[in-house]
Amino acid sequence: MEHPLQAWRDTLEELGVMGLVREPAQAAPTETVAVAAPPPARQPVAPPAPAPALRPAAYAPPMDPIGCPTPEAVAGATTLQDLQVAIQGCLACPLGPGRLKFVFGEGDPRAQLMFVGEGPGRDEDLQGRPFVGKAGELLDKMIGALGLRRDQTYIANVVKCRPPDNRTPAPEEARACLGYLQRQIELIRPAVIVTLGATPLRELVGVSEGITRVRGQWKRVVVGGREIPVMPTFHPAYVLRQYTQDVRRAVWEDLQAAKAWADKAQEG
Ligand code: URA
Repeated sequence: MEHPLQAWRDTLEELGVMGLVREPAQAAPTETVAVAAPPPARQPVAPPAPAPALRPAAYAPPMDPIGCPTPEAVAGATTLQDLQVAIQGCLACPLGPGRLKFVFGEGDPRAQLMFVGEGPGRDEDLQGRPFVGKAGELLDKMIGALGLRRDQTYIANVVKCRPPDNRTPAPEEARACLGYLQRQIELIRPAVIVTLGATPLRELVGVSEGITRVRGQWKRVVVGGREIPVMPTFHPAYVLRQYTQDVRRAVWEDLQAAKAWADKAQEG
């Protein structure tokens, strides 16, 4: 059955108002406000009830007037949760107003092995989770074949909002989101990053050579002053389209090399 949010989105698209309506921001915890009932006629007025105790203030990241988290809010987030709160209302690029859900990323916040894809597709936009469609199923299988569970790794994307029609994110969209991914990487401190497809390799690592040429060759990226080895491999969606033994074997070799490096880093 179609997800109700998709019907809502289709309706907005038909009406031509998609992009004018924003996904509701996550509601801040509300504080209870006691409303005094009117005193009964001609009876002594009861003294006001004591004010309810205030809960500690929730993390409220600074935003600029059009809803973009400031660089200070991003740098000041010291946990992945705080970072998510800081950036999930982002409208810094044209993808923001069109999303159903912000896809922050998920997994072990201390993962040794981190995967970086391109951006959410339809399923991810509906669920707010990375790699949950067909490509995600294949990624899960490959992670399983490495002897890991998905939640023992960390999975994120270059852009956190779905590009229309699943197109490749434009360079300025990727640039608007890059600081978020970099802060995520700084907080997770993975031993190895596996880039899935050409987009994360180009946008995160700065390597624009064709993925067919460079897959399987170690690259490196410096994030927060720390150098991290990067293993470029094919995107699982490409593997599904080119389901040949050669392509599958290539990805399998790349993932095994990345896992072996992560294991070594954990031992040492
Ligand atoms: N493709 C991606 O690059 N990322 C996702 O999260 C899903 C599909």
